[in-house]
Amino acid sequence: MCGIIGYVGKENAVPIIVEGLKKLEYRGYDSAGIAVYSESGFFDVVKQKGRLTALDARLADFPAKGFMGIGHTRWATHGEPSDINSHPHVGNQNKIAVVHNGIIENYKQLKERLEKKGVKFISETDSEVIAQLAEYYYDGNIMETVGKVANRLEGSFALGIMCVDDPGTLIAVKKDNPLIIGVSGHGNFIASDVPAVLKHTNKVYYLDDKEITVLKKDTVQFFNMDKEPLMKSPETITWNPLNAEKGGYPHFMLKEIIEQPKVLRDTISSALSDNENKTVIRRIDITKFNKIVITACGSAYNAGFAAKYVFERLCRFPAVEVELASEFRYRDAVIDDKTLVILISQSGETADTIAAMREAKSGGAVTLSIVNVVGSTIAKEADFCLFTAAGPEIAVATTKAFSAQLVLLYILAVRFADRLGKLPETAGGGTETEDGLLKEIEALPDKAESILEQIDSIQKYASACVGYKSIFFIGRNIDYAIALEGSLKLKEISYIHSEAYAGGELKHGTISLIEENTLVVAISNCKRLHGKLMSNAEQVISRGAKVLLIGNSAGVKPDDKLSVIGLPESCELFSPSLSVIVLQLFSYYVAANKGLDIDKPRNLAKSVTVE
Ligand code: AGP
Repeated sequence: MCGIIGYVGKENAVPIIVEGLKKLEYRGYDSAGIAVYSESGFFDVVKQKGRLTALDARLADFPAKGFMGIGHTRWATHGEPSDINSHPHVGNQNKIAVVHNGIIENYKQLKERLEKKGVKFISETDSEVIAQLAEYYYDGNIMETVGKVANRLEGSFALGIMCVDDPGTLIAVKKDNPLIIGVSGHGNFIASDVPAVLKHTNKVYYLDDKEITVLKKDTVQFFNMDKEPLMKSPETITWNPLNAEKGGYPHFMLKEIIEQPKVLRDTISSALSDNENKTVIRRIDITKFNKIVITACGSAYNAGFAAKYVFERLCRFPAVEVELASEFRYRDAVIDDKTLVILISQSGETADTIAAMREAKSGGAVTLSIVNVVGSTIAKEADFCLFTAAGPEIAVATTKAFSAQLVLLYILAVRFADRLGKLPETAGGGTETEDGLLKEIEALPDKAESILEQIDSIQKYASACVGYKSIFFIGRNIDYAIALEGSLKLKEISYIHSEAYAGGELKHGTISLIEENTLVVAISNCKRLHGKLMSNAEQVISRGAKVLLIGNSAGVKPDDKLSVIGLPESCELFSPSLSVIVLQLFSYYVAANKGLDIDKPRNLAKSVTVE
């Protein structure tokens, strides 16, 4: 969480940094700040609690200018959101300014030691200790100082550091938190993520842990902790800068929902046409494994949970487990070199998923990641990596990246099933061939488009739901997995309490919460379980609930208690890709009608880089 950016170059750093922060605001948005090295030979520091618009307003009152600066947008971990706790932090002697993303686990010990030496702390943050420690060690060489500081910090950090004695030098270093270096014709950048620099350059370096970067206006040099120079090659980012803009939509989330047919097409083609993803899938010999463990957080976990049904049904694999990465990492799971651990992550930087990956590797398992961000930690460290072609996803609530994860998982399951000899040569008796299944997957983008044609009716239905205090989601089998995602989406952006249940589970407790006019969203794509789910719907209707049925509407007669949003006919295994679009639009319009800040929901940040 938290977004950092730094610039050293020929142009005024202030507007460049503020604009970059706007592209990083999805990472944290409770306060923000900026420090520039000004003509006076000091740092001008402006920090403000609240959204970036508040910082912008402060900057209008206190115009700052300089050719080097650092900025930060915060998601508080230590100390409440306030002007003082905002970054950048500057040491007591006003010599060194620091922005930090991560958590310093030994900050209390370091702080106590510095306080004994007379250092005065002014904030409640863990991050201030970095600036104070840097000033304590500083002996005229800022690069060496940063090396010493980095060696004493425990925890995770991505740092941007400036020193008043070295007005043309910006230093960056990281451990377990992302940091990229962008190079452009007018200057060089550090940033937490690519969209922050995309307007200026598509050439970026991805920093590895404990690499120190020294940026000047026309050079960038990399060193290891022993101060030996490192050779690194830049990567060219293919993302279109316009993809990181709202493009006329009121929110990124709506834009990203609407982009899904294209994202599905691009991701499917990345795995079926001759390119990197197809090659990676071919290289994995599934016959060597006797267990698949899928692990991830939040929506990525829900994608994995849906995929479990697909892997089991198609591959008939002895064991397919799905587990939250935050649990897996501490479970001492039984894994070995016959276990394939699949890690799913949009950002590729989620702390728990990174830890789960390292745990899996140390247990001897083979790791395969499904990631959206090239150069991210999970993409780099996993044994195999498949990239979702979702492009930059800015809204905190994931939509298009989730859909891209699902289709890659389907394709993986089909390819694995074929390799395991579980698919017949010819279809029949309810079985599907590899070609038949892939055709079903390739048909999904057109079907997704047809769902988007129903947007007006979904909006109308959702607009009438803003008053609900609690909304339940039910489904069975793979529809239960997607009910979980529908419920998560709704609660994170609309702040309406919501829970998802396997339909058959309601009567084991939750049905006691059903009362007059409770809304239950029922997802039904599993044909053989449709009757069962409709019985669950009847049970809640007879206790006063209203039901919205999404999916199989054959033979269902809507009335004042039962509304229906039908989906295009599709193979039930891949139907989550269609029902989820309705669920995303439903949540979006409920939140929009409540006038909420949809792209930046309260208390959340997109990239959860702390535990
Ligand atoms: C979903 O809308 C969430 N914002 C969240 O659950 C997210 O999916 C989770 O934090 C995992 O993120 P990742 O995909 O970047 O690892």
